[in-house]
Amino acid sequence: MIETAVHRPVTLGQTEKMPSYRMDLRQYKNQKEYEKFVKVNTVNDWSTVSWKDIGKPYEVTSFSKDKLDWEEEHGKTLPVHTSWTMFNQSFHEWFSKDVPAEIHEKKGAFFHSLKSFKPSEVKVALGDYIRIHLWNYVHRVQDGIWDPRGKRALFEGLDIQKPRILFLGAAEGYEAMQLSAMYPGGEVVMVDYDAFCRDARFAEFPESYPFLGKNPSTGGEKVYFKDDFKISYVVDDIRNLSFGAEFDIVLSVGLLEHFPDSMKAEVVEWHRKFLKPGGYIVMTTPRAQLRSKLYYEIMADVMNHTYRELMTLEQMGLYLYENGLDIMNHGYIKVHNGIVARAK
Ligand SMILES: C[S@@+](CC[C@H](N)C(=O)[O-])C[C@H]1O[C@@H](n2cnc3c(N)ncnc32)[C@H](O)[C@@H]1O
Repeated sequence: MIETAVHRPVTLGQTEKMPSYRMDLRQYKNQKEYEKFVKVNTVNDWSTVSWKDIGKPYEVTSFSKDKLDWEEEHGKTLPVHTSWTMFNQSFHEWFSKDVPAEIHEKKGAFFHSLKSFKPSEVKVALGDYIRIHLWNYVHRVQDGIWDPRGKRALFEGLDIQKPRILFLGAAEGYEAMQLSAMYPGGEVVMVDYDAFCRDARFAEFPESYPFLGKNPSTGGEKVYFKDDFKISYVVDDIRNLSFGAEFDIVLSVGLLEHFPDSMKAEVVEWHRKFLKPGGYIVMTTPRAQLRSKLYYEIMADVMNHTYRELMTLEQMGLYLYENGLDIMNHGYIKVHNGIVARAK
């Protein structure tokens, strides 16, 4: 049992469904269990992978009502920056929900709507009920979004101490905190050009969420909380950053897939330019799998405000490989592909 001054006690190995998330301090016990969380290094030689063989990513084409309404009202395409402010507000709401309470409420609303005999009301209430159930399953039961066990498996083995970590398009900053727990004693710079990410998504990230990491003095396990990390949050466009090549890890999660092919090289370059020689680029993108396609369809109003692709690990790897990165480690976890790379 780990007693902390401000947080409820937690135990190594513990997992528990909280009202709005799952906390999970379980470690995989052996190689077989490890392989349940992450499938790594499926491609032996990236020079043999070609677009002709693997095809291009799947483009998500169902958009949120807010985006479509804005475009109808303004008679033009929603600007990308505005699309992110809409996305972040909409997505953040879901992380703040008391899910069991909301399931109960939406169930009541659905049965109430049946009494109205109005198909449109029933459809809305049923949609709300399905979405909260799906969210419960994906985020709280499966822990598919934060997925700490999968991410720990993906991030382990970096030859790095007290790293300076730059998180591009950081949103609430989850993965940089997980990395910081595994490689403690350094600092994190989070960057997002939507101020709401710093002021709400990161600011309201639960202080009692436990991150399983490493104890630098014993080499054993240690639990960290948000307040334990040294974090600064920069609200700016990635393209305006004045940092030099000064970071041990440059990280992005769910960024590359929001840019069409004509911009992929530029996005890869955003990561490379801030990297110290020998530093690591860590990137993840959502997987092109049937269940993810369904998720983005059902959650379109919550998630789809901007250009979005779903790609396979091979497609993601080829974007990085053909743009000059050396892929050190690649794998997929529940819903994301992940790659650890170095600049050539
Ligand atoms: C899809 S989100 C990242 C996914 C994240 N894990 C989440 O839960 O929402 C991408 C983030 O990148 C930010 N972003 C996109 N383009 C950017 C740019 N040019 N400069 C800074 N931030 C950017 C967006 O504001 C958004 O918060």
